[in-house]
Amino acid sequence: MKGIVLAGGSGTRMYPLTLATSKQLLAVYDKPLVYYPLSVLMLAGVRDILVISAPDSLPALRALLRDGSQLGLNLSFAVQKEPRGIAEALLIGEKHINDEPSALILGDNVFHGAGFPDLLRSSRQELDGCTLFGYPVSDPERFGIGETDAEGNLVSLEEKPLRPRSNNAISGLYFYDSDVVEIAKDLTPSLRGELEITDVNRVYLKQGRASLVRLGRGYTWLDAGTHDTLLAASQYVQVIQHRQGVRVACLEEIALRMGYIDAEHCYRLGTGMENSEYGKYLMEMAQTVG
Ligand code: G1P
Repeated sequence: MKGIVLAGGSGTRMYPLTLATSKQLLAVYDKPLVYYPLSVLMLAGVRDILVISAPDSLPALRALLRDGSQLGLNLSFAVQKEPRGIAEALLIGEKHINDEPSALILGDNVFHGAGFPDLLRSSRQELDGCTLFGYPVSDPERFGIGETDAEGNLVSLEEKPLRPRSNNAISGLYFYDSDVVEIAKDLTPSLRGELEITDVNRVYLKQGRASLVRLGRGYTWLDAGTHDTLLAASQYVQVIQHRQGVRVACLEEIALRMGYIDAEHCYRLGTGMENSEYGKYLMEMAQTVG
């Protein structure tokens, strides 16, 4: 399975924070926002990942993440010239996807919860068409919304409905089979001028091949795309990390636990940042896990 992180958009909702930097490089407590979606793909066992960003953001993202080999990943980069919609990522990523199944994640989405890695892996194995991940929210008009029947099957999908039929938001993580690029090619821009990911998902729904995995109360899903939600994400991560003593979305730790890198390598990554608590954590963790 191929991965795509869409770290595009001009970040205008976050001005002046994003006047000179990319939204995905802003801090969620102790690490850049983009680490969080990247960690999800890694936990799903996806290692060949394309990062798509606005042209201005690309050099800094590349400087941060490099070619991924330090994490046992294969990272490549591409540009989304204008914010023409999430589904455009599938067209930009056509060569990368290479007729394989793919996982697309939005660069500002933060997921956390016990059992999430297992859920990701089982969803990947059971993929037939597309798999969406739903989460109950209090402000459904801000999101793509999925309505289900009594058996929990998806019956409708709507993008930011004025009168939502449910409070079940479709999060920014999407698993697709190899048909997705052809589906994306047939899209026409919506009224707001974007290629909507919800329109892609609706094609699968019409074909009876869209599944919904509900992330229940044991999970946290945040989209850190506004000042308030970015702060909420930081506060959440701070509280969890301080209480539990383990880090959320620590890419080096995930790489080690997934067997993408060995303990010695992880330790060395820590020594490169040993003045920070993050670096010290890597060194200690490499000694206990390794
Ligand atoms: C996008 C999608 C929406 C989804 C949301 C998740 O919205 O269009 O369907 O629920 O991401 O973060 P946007 O962030 O573009 O407002």
